Amino acid sequence: MRRVCIGRIEDVPDGEGRAVTLYGRTYAVFREGDRLFALENRCPHAGGPLADGFVGGGSVTCPLHGWKVDLRTGKIAGGLGEQVRVMPVIRGEEFIYLEVDLPYENQQTYDCACGK
Ligand code: FES
Repeated sequence: MRRVCIGRIEDVPDGEGRAVTLYGRTYAVFREGDRLFALENRCPHAGGPLADGFVGGGSVTCPLHGWKVDLRTGKIAGGLGEQVRVMPVIRGEEFIYLEVDLPYENQQTYDCACGK
């Protein structure tokens, strides 16, 4: 796992999600109040972009057909048995960091927002 800075906290407005692409993979980062969450940005139903979904009550509702995904666990509401991959997200004082599993060939330097 590698910790990567993906931007400023203020770049993700409260109650919204943002898509972040790192090394060819796209993640969805959400903010609900003071809490931050990160999921794979792909709904297991038909690939909908979860970062564009509606955030509320600890879940995101997929913008395509309305499946509800728990932001903390990645589980789909209604016990459908499917799950979205959850990524560890760390809240710094100013920046957001994701812990991502990178393929060996993609271990190059990443130009992060914090300059570290
Ligand atoms: S693609 Fe997400 S509910 Fe259909």
